[in-house]
Amino acid sequence: MAYSNICLFYIYYDVLDMPEHVFFNAKEWLSMIHLKSINKSFEKKKPSSFSLTNINLKIHEDSVFGIIGRSGAGKTTLLNVMTKHVLPDSGEYYFSGQPVRKMPKQIFFRQIGIVYQGYPLLMQKNVFDNIALPLVIRHNSHRFINETVNHLLRTIGIDELKNHYPSELSGGQKQRVAIARALAGNPKVLFLDEPTSALDTFTTMELVTLLKKLHQQGDLTIVVISHDLNVIDALCDRTALIENGKIVACGETHAITKEITQSFPKEGDTDGLR
Ligand SMILES: Nc1ncnc2c1ncn2[C@@H]1O[C@H](COP(=O)(O)OP(=O)(O)O)[C@@H](O)[C@H]1O
Ligand SMILES: [Mg+2]
Repeated sequence: MAYSNICLFYIYYDVLDMPEHVFFNAKEWLSMIHLKSINKSFEKKKPSSFSLTNINLKIHEDSVFGIIGRSGAGKTTLLNVMTKHVLPDSGEYYFSGQPVRKMPKQIFFRQIGIVYQGYPLLMQKNVFDNIALPLVIRHNSHRFINETVNHLLRTIGIDELKNHYPSELSGGQKQRVAIARALAGNPKVLFLDEPTSALDTFTTMELVTLLKKLHQQGDLTIVVISHDLNVIDALCDRTALIENGKIVACGETHAITKEITQSFPKEGDTDGLR
């Protein structure tokens, strides 16, 4: 490498403030989500009230990122900040390099898909119409909606259920419909809040396999909140551990889950993380 090129690299590297290894892996330094010093307090007058404090987080493009923590730690609140449902009191949020604060809501929401906890579906609409909903709202053509929904039904493995209503579905099937609906708008990022909390072990592992397949098939960044160490371990490249509104550890998933397991030697299980 010519000397001038080396200088250029170091100037660039310095400006971007990135760890050294990213030079060798271009995907890694493309942050899909970048939270900088985010703070959010719900009741400012009460000192004991909950707050997200000094949240710094980078989620790389095309990665699967896990967020784990006890009940009440702030996982859903953090997800709500990342999905622009909760506005932080301070700090900056960049999505795909763009400041979210300045991004019109419509533009932002088109780039994300969310599977909420309990995966609520419209009970009076069948599976096809539930999945089609985001596209109907966007006034897409009938032809486009048909093609997109039928493709998703096949990809998610629920083709035979398209005329069924939510009351006729199992928990795992409802979950798949909710995932298909979240993907209908072809989002850059799929957020899932406790996607396996109501599923049995077998259905949970099927869901993990499906999410892995979806991730491998397209340019999709997945952010998954779960109390289940096995799910996080099987699915996520990197994971953040959140406690009392603070990120206390963040890194390669196996290292984080190992640290968590070792911090509960007497309990012998992960119930405390629920
Ligand atoms: N809109 C809100 N107003 C006031 N407090 C809230 C609000 N949303 C969440 N909280 C509080 O924030 C804390 C963290 O909640 P949450 O993010 O749902 O935790 P987790 O998802 O980790 O279980 C809880 O104490 C909860 O009561
Ligand atoms: Mg929650």
